[in-house]
Amino acid sequence: MKPKLYIPGDSGALALGADRVARAFEAELSRRGLDATIVRNGSRGLYWLEPLVEIETAEGRFAYGPVRVKDVATLLDAGLLQAGSSHPLFLGPTEKIPFLARQTRLTFARCGVIDPLSLDDYRAHDGLKGLEKAVAMAPSDIVQEVTQSGLRGRGGAGFPTGIKWKTVHDAVARQKYIVCNADEGDSGSFADRMIMEGDPFVLIEGMAIAGLAVGATKGFIYIRSEYPHAVATMREAIRIATAAGVLGPSVMGSAHGFDLEVRVGAGAYVCGEETSLLNSLEGKRGEVRAKPPLPALQGLFGLPTVVNNVISLASVPVILDKGAAYYENFGMGRSRGTIPIQIAGNVKHGGLFEAAFGLTLGEIVEEIGGGTASGRPVKAVQVGGPLGAYFPPSLFDTPFDYEAFAAKDGLIGHAGLTIFDDSADMLSLARFAFSFCAVESCGKCTPCRIGSIRGAETLDKVAAGVAREDNLALVEELCETMKFGSLCALGGFTPYPVMSAITHFPQDFAPRPQAQAAE
Ligand SMILES: Cc1cc2nc3c(=O)[nH]c(=O)nc-3n(C[C@H](O)[C@H](O)[C@H](O)COP(=O)(O)O)c2cc1C
Ligand code: SF4
Repeated sequence: MKPKLYIPGDSGALALGADRVARAFEAELSRRGLDATIVRNGSRGLYWLEPLVEIETAEGRFAYGPVRVKDVATLLDAGLLQAGSSHPLFLGPTEKIPFLARQTRLTFARCGVIDPLSLDDYRAHDGLKGLEKAVAMAPSDIVQEVTQSGLRGRGGAGFPTGIKWKTVHDAVARQKYIVCNADEGDSGSFADRMIMEGDPFVLIEGMAIAGLAVGATKGFIYIRSEYPHAVATMREAIRIATAAGVLGPSVMGSAHGFDLEVRVGAGAYVCGEETSLLNSLEGKRGEVRAKPPLPALQGLFGLPTVVNNVISLASVPVILDKGAAYYENFGMGRSRGTIPIQIAGNVKHGGLFEAAFGLTLGEIVEEIGGGTASGRPVKAVQVGGPLGAYFPPSLFDTPFDYEAFAAKDGLIGHAGLTIFDDSADMLSLARFAFSFCAVESCGKCTPCRIGSIRGAETLDKVAAGVAREDNLALVEELCETMKFGSLCALGGFTPYPVMSAITHFPQDFAPRPQAQAAE
């Protein structure tokens, strides 16, 4: 059998030179008269080791990384095609790399393992089993299974997926829709992109199951324009799935039809908010709609619509395949199942780590992430994107759990972590939160549209030492107004990064030498 080499083709690996490495392997193999198949898989999510090249053997897959073009010849000299272990980039059996071995991969089980656009490979790795079961079930039983699994929306709000599905299931309408939110605007987040590029059929399968469950025959995947590779992969996967009868007028040979389409957003953070996304899908300005009515009842084109995040939908096939109890068995408290944690920022081992809820923030940052890349002490971790709170090391015992984070005035959001070392200036980061909100605000409500600008101006005064105490009190008051007076979470959650910075890092808001001189 021809040796099989895996070289990731996902955006993260491409940014680190994976295409150049793949071309170098092709050229060097041909120059040596060697024959091997090169598969462009998704990433395993160990980004500090990308491009991570793997060779398949009878004993499983062996990894090398990070591989550069200059390493290709020496890797072949060292017997890479026979999984030779003498090269300094040799990492051993892929599955035994500690960062991977410690994970519980349910949603990402195939990501990095299979050829993303091979439906045969997908089937060979348990793909379509959930949909096969769903096709034979009553819609209300599918909804019940998802409800029982305890799955909560992974897009940010953590709303129970089954309850949302039930509302759409119970609604009576001539047409219903499934909309997948793949806008993924949060800083430090890349789980949606990684799975769309590494295992696109799992999202298609999850959306088809959602369609069967609620009686929707049409779905849209709304992807940001900054994700061209994800757009191309999803479009091709939809074409393949439709040709194979997984999608189309008769899903898996059943009486149910389900069609899918990719729509590309223009890249506004607020277009990730579900009602703004629906407006954008309808070709309107991405402005937030007042709720009620809920999108579940009056969503896309005013019709009942399930809006779910990529990871929520991609977690459904394993729930249907292995059963609600299997999934529910992982996790803690009301946070059931697994969560793909994305570790980014100033960190040694940045990547995607899927685990049952319950690991502490400290374990994730220090043990799994390996601390900062700069080698300096960790000062703060922003959890949940630009609207998430900054956690100091004194809160590192907080378990990864929706309620535990809320109790500490934080949020899990889409589970993206951005790590900062002790050189970070928390006043600048608090100001950034206001200015980000000002730039991204849809402008519909005053606390967000005006408050964010006034907030940044007031923090500038604090930095300049102008009536410091009074201005800090004003910022606090403004945050209260934004939190309770904003129409959506963009304005409503901007106070989280601002107030957490002020509360946990008061020293960064104290008088500064140059400001004192000005006073
Ligand atoms: C400003 C803002 C941006 C958001 N961005 C995203 C996003 O990029 N992706 C996402 O899935 N949800 C995002 N959300 C949450 C969505 O409004 C919505 O709760 C989610 O898509 C529902 O899916 P889920 O229940 O599966 O999480 C955002 C919310 C707000 C307020
Ligand atoms: S909070 Fe901001 S983004 Fe949300 S509706 Fe109001 S102005 Fe628009």
